[in-house]
Amino acid sequence: MGFSTDAIHVGQEPDPLTGAVVAPIYQTSTYVLEELGKSRGYDYARTNHPNRKALERTLAKLEGGIGAFVFTSGMAAIDSVLRLLRPGDHVIVTKGIYGGAYRLMTKLLVEFGLEFSFVDTTRLDLVEEAIKPSTKMIYVDTPTNPTLVVTDIGTVSALARSRNLTFVVDNTFMSPYFQNPLVLGADVVVHSVTKYLNGHSDCTGGAVILSRPQEAARIQFIQRAAGAGLAPMDCFLVSRGVKTLAVRMERHNENGIAIAKHLASHPKVKHVNYPGLPSHPQHELAKRQQRGFGAMMSFDVGSQEAARKMLNSLRICSLGESLGGVETLICHPATMTHASMAPETRREFGITDGLIRLSVGIEDVEDLVSDLDQGLALL
Ligand SMILES: Cc1ncc(COP(=O)(O)O)c(C=O)c1O
Repeated sequence: MGFSTDAIHVGQEPDPLTGAVVAPIYQTSTYVLEELGKSRGYDYARTNHPNRKALERTLAKLEGGIGAFVFTSGMAAIDSVLRLLRPGDHVIVTKGIYGGAYRLMTKLLVEFGLEFSFVDTTRLDLVEEAIKPSTKMIYVDTPTNPTLVVTDIGTVSALARSRNLTFVVDNTFMSPYFQNPLVLGADVVVHSVTKYLNGHSDCTGGAVILSRPQEAARIQFIQRAAGAGLAPMDCFLVSRGVKTLAVRMERHNENGIAIAKHLASHPKVKHVNYPGLPSHPQHELAKRQQRGFGAMMSFDVGSQEAARKMLNSLRICSLGESLGGVETLICHPATMTHASMAPETRREFGITDGLIRLSVGIEDVEDLVSDLDQGLALL
């Protein structure tokens, strides 16, 4: 079946009890047993519930995995993946990883004996050089947040396989509509479903989708044991969002390309990071490994003061932390999403004080262009 058919139907069969086209929200914590030792498949909502099972089936199908598990946030999903490791294990991580994941790794998980090296994963030689006897995992965001650096999933996965390392890809920016890391050779995919998968900025959530049964069983165990599985109402909201993922992503992509081209030709903009522009260093790779370029980009206006002036003047683009919703969101990574990074690390990752991140929504593109133009005219 095609992507949209799967997104609308897999896991979303009519309710067997009533025939309701949209399954009800099972807003209950517990399920009675038919008799001692005999349930109808559910006993307690932390362990599982029908709305979670439905969403997990859809996401496994869309990413081409053997199993999917959903969590209360993208960070909870990432945390569960890193719990596949043991004290003493070493992880090679994309330089320029999402700030929250960087914080989880460097401020919390190091205290539990994990070790992380942040490497330019666009350079296979550097990835190979960073492997040590204790290395167990390679963890990549592609494209990265907010610098939009693209890593070659196929070549890194071949290296990971040859060295028996688990290869994890954060696919939040592309969504399964534009990129399928498992199909390209990754072992595990994570998503902040808060973003494109839900698409409407009305709940947080995360997902882990896997290609190997042993790791899938372990993630399922972690989800139940640690208790961060996504709640019924939130699963319902994400399932509803996923049904329109394809049409939203097409429009996001169209608007994204138009806005990136416009910003790149604007005299007040120093530089635009967007894999869809021929000037992007991994443009050819992005064309090969992605089916679209999406709507995430960042651009530099030269200084924090210029960024402040522009951001405070916008009327349609909303100043906010998140991304991937139908509405255009804009933020200043140095003081918002990546504020927990030391200034020198931010500089090393390419997050300058004048950098602005833009998540282009699906509004009318002319309105977005005129809003951005009136802000840039103040500089
Ligand atoms: C690429 C990426 N991964 C993971 C996360 C974390 O997701 P959440 O905010 O749902 O915990 C984010 C959040 O912005 C993100 O941008």
